[in-house]
Amino acid sequence: MNKNIVCIGAGYIGGPTMAVIAKMNPDRKVIVVDINKSRIAAWNSKNYALPIFEPGLVDVVKEVRGKNLFFSTDIKKAVQDCDIIFVGVNTPTKMFGKGAGRASDLQYWEATARNVAKWANGDKIVVEKSTLPVRTAAAMSAILNTHEKYHFEVLSNPEFLAEGTAIKDLLTPDRVLIGGAKTPSGDAAVDELVKVYCGKGGKWVPRERVLTTNVWSAELTKLAANAFLAQRVSSINAIAGLCEATGADVDEVARVIGADRRIGPKFLKAGPGFGGSCFKKDVLNLVYLCETFGLHTAAEYWMGVIKMNDHQQERIVSRLFRAMFNTLANKKIAMFGFAFKADTGDTRETPAGTVARLLNDEHVCLSITDPKAIPNAKKDLEDLLCTPTPPTYTSDPYVAAKDADAILLMTDWSEYPALDWTKLYKSMRKPALVFDTRNCLDADKLRKIGFTVLNIGK
Ligand code: UDX
Ligand code: ADP
Repeated sequence: MNKNIVCIGAGYIGGPTMAVIAKMNPDRKVIVVDINKSRIAAWNSKNYALPIFEPGLVDVVKEVRGKNLFFSTDIKKAVQDCDIIFVGVNTPTKMFGKGAGRASDLQYWEATARNVAKWANGDKIVVEKSTLPVRTAAAMSAILNTHEKYHFEVLSNPEFLAEGTAIKDLLTPDRVLIGGAKTPSGDAAVDELVKVYCGKGGKWVPRERVLTTNVWSAELTKLAANAFLAQRVSSINAIAGLCEATGADVDEVARVIGADRRIGPKFLKAGPGFGGSCFKKDVLNLVYLCETFGLHTAAEYWMGVIKMNDHQQERIVSRLFRAMFNTLANKKIAMFGFAFKADTGDTRETPAGTVARLLNDEHVCLSITDPKAIPNAKKDLEDLLCTPTPPTYTSDPYVAAKDADAILLMTDWSEYPALDWTKLYKSMRKPALVFDTRNCLDADKLRKIGFTVLNIGK
């Protein structure tokens, strides 16, 4: 019989992943639970006002919700109904005590594991979906297997989906990674999860793309994979500064580097630095792990990736400062885009947040516009309301730019190049500046209109 599935945590990972698992496994029941009632209500909303925005997500949810995908706050009942339990609760960076600012805060994870043990009514497979420090599975297994009657097999199944392309990444993944104990019960649990990812009738992920490893390799691979991607972004950003100083063009350099098949073209776009919920957190976790095991040089190496990223945002502000005659106080700057990348409303660790704060320190009158991220931006910058120049927000870029001295483009939304830049120019104070930190606008066209244009790495 096919095992039913519950996912604890209805967030960015749990929601989309379970929607696609339900779609590709119509013969299994999939329940997504969360302690957050309003989040579950949003997942269940009649008009599909889902709590997260992902292209294609609504269509999948429309197809399966109420058929074999359910959202609920009754965690106990769902745990008892299902044999495979995914855990996708948040594991933010710890802000207190040992490992503060580096290690993951595992209290939500541990609380969840203890509840699972308390409520279990049979053997269960527990799947780590949240990114967790290496060896968490062993700790969880120890907590769960204090149970007298039932056996719990803990698997690590890290998620590689990127926001904005989550549904596509889930439907056609490069690979699925499943880590399990090298024991008969571990192997059996891995086989069960492989079946889920192969989908009904083997119509989902081809078997050869489901890679199985031991638990610790799986846990470490997730951190290492994100650290490698983050490191590429920091590397190209380190070259960008040099391009600005020497007259080279970072986009040209990246194009040629990426043409080497050993390197490849992806994740070589210079910009304001990486954001998002994973990169910084995972690199910091890796740093913490290295330090824990006395690998201080390796820790420093990975810390350099974060330092370079922070430096990129400081550099943006100092370049703006110089280009605007060394004073920014009371000047109006329109920030185009606040999300950490295009096609998402997510603002976690967004470079725009850091830059907004640095500009606020300079008493800039910041007008922030973004097609999706305004509600999150307002929450993130709430504490700036009591500063001398609190930011203002608008979904209309033309309103943001009116009477502004500069436009600072932070997110590469596809609508920005298509705006009427002559109209924007006419409404601004002169000299009007555009700082395109994503190199996504036509700089020559803007210069012809009359703008002063700054880019990254040019
Ligand atoms: C990332 C990983 O890609 C994914 O596999 C993992 O599961 C979660 O973390 P995500 O955070 O959604 O996904 O975004 P991603 O598309 O990887 O971009 C991360 C950040 O790097 C963004 O801020 C993006 O703007 C920046 N970036 C990316 C660059 O600055 N240059 C690039 O070339 C690529
Ligand atoms: P991620 O990006 O890892 O999916 P999110 O923060 O988007 O992280 O989602 C995590 C979800 O987990 C949140 O909706 C939160 O309410 C939920 N959560 C946290 N702790 C628990 C718990 N003990 N039981 C159920 N859900 C939980």
